[in-house]
Amino acid sequence: MIQVYAPGRAEVLGNHTDYNEGLVMSIAVDRGTTVKGGVRHDGKIKLVATDLGEEMILDIAEVRPQSSNEWANYVLGVYDQFIKRGLPAKGFEMEISSNLPMGAGLSSSAALEVATGLFLQQLYQTSFDKLELAKIGQAAEHYYVGVRCGLLDQISSLFGKKDHLIRIDCRTFEVRNIPIPLGTQFVIANSKVKHALVTGEYNERRESCEAAARLLGVKALRDVTPEFLEKNAAKLPVIALKRARHVVGEIDRVLQAEKALEKSEIARFGQLMWDSHQSSIENFENSCKELDLLVAAAQKVKGALGGRLSGGGFGGATLNLVETAAVESFTKKMTQAWKGTECLVSSASDGATVL
Ligand code: GLA
Repeated sequence: MIQVYAPGRAEVLGNHTDYNEGLVMSIAVDRGTTVKGGVRHDGKIKLVATDLGEEMILDIAEVRPQSSNEWANYVLGVYDQFIKRGLPAKGFEMEISSNLPMGAGLSSSAALEVATGLFLQQLYQTSFDKLELAKIGQAAEHYYVGVRCGLLDQISSLFGKKDHLIRIDCRTFEVRNIPIPLGTQFVIANSKVKHALVTGEYNERRESCEAAARLLGVKALRDVTPEFLEKNAAKLPVIALKRARHVVGEIDRVLQAEKALEKSEIARFGQLMWDSHQSSIENFENSCKELDLLVAAAQKVKGALGGRLSGGGFGGATLNLVETAAVESFTKKMTQAWKGTECLVSSASDGATVL
């Protein structure tokens, strides 16, 4: 039997920078998705989603995006990429289970894609490297789910390292791990709200960023510094300018955060996280009332070093860096700030693996 595990991720700094060829910092969280199963010789694919109590069975000749059982698209989209890379159609069965909260912005979808990629890698005995597996997951998201995402989620799930941040250069795909300051914890405050039309909003943001790059005459917003952007602000329509300010600012904040970590300036690092959230509110407009309440409340807690929206936005969770001694009082304050909030203390963990 094949059994593999892939963790979810939390974005620490560098919001919506990945598809702009920018820089981003993340962690693999200590929860994830496990898939197990093996080959079938009757030309069928059987998928069981244990947590949802749902299953589906289909013929290998019928693999295409599904409009019911949408969860299956993450698996089938990855399978489709294996076929596109020249592997023969093959039946299999797979049981999926996860302890990642869905819709919390922890990328349960990428965890399933990455787990499926590793599972099929075992099934086919292929040797795609981690970056290729990440790209396979991303392609599943583009073609079977319809979100034109970057590679942050899949790379984080694959390249996680215990007690380390993952720092990704989304142009060269150089990935580095940076130690997390001692005496701190990441606390994920899941608002459990999800505002509709997330896919549409996401793709629209991406289009604005691409339009801004075009109008500025560069390949991607990665090529733009904050100074250059302000000098050329008149070239951009208002919305594109705001979106670009966010992305360019986020890339700059990742650079500053690295320097802060080198000098163990943890308060500075935290401040960059607060600044990131403010930019989401003002420039990228991907926050919402509930997340703003959580961040505002976090700023008042002694021992809370930084906090911000993490991931796509429009609901989900905030990610907070909190002094270990203050974690208990912090989580209490979060539940008071927005009723129904669930806090999850997560250490940074190792990436996906065959079990
Ligand atoms: C989602 C996407 C990622 C990334 C983040 C925002 O998680 O899947 O590719 O763009 O949003 O940084």
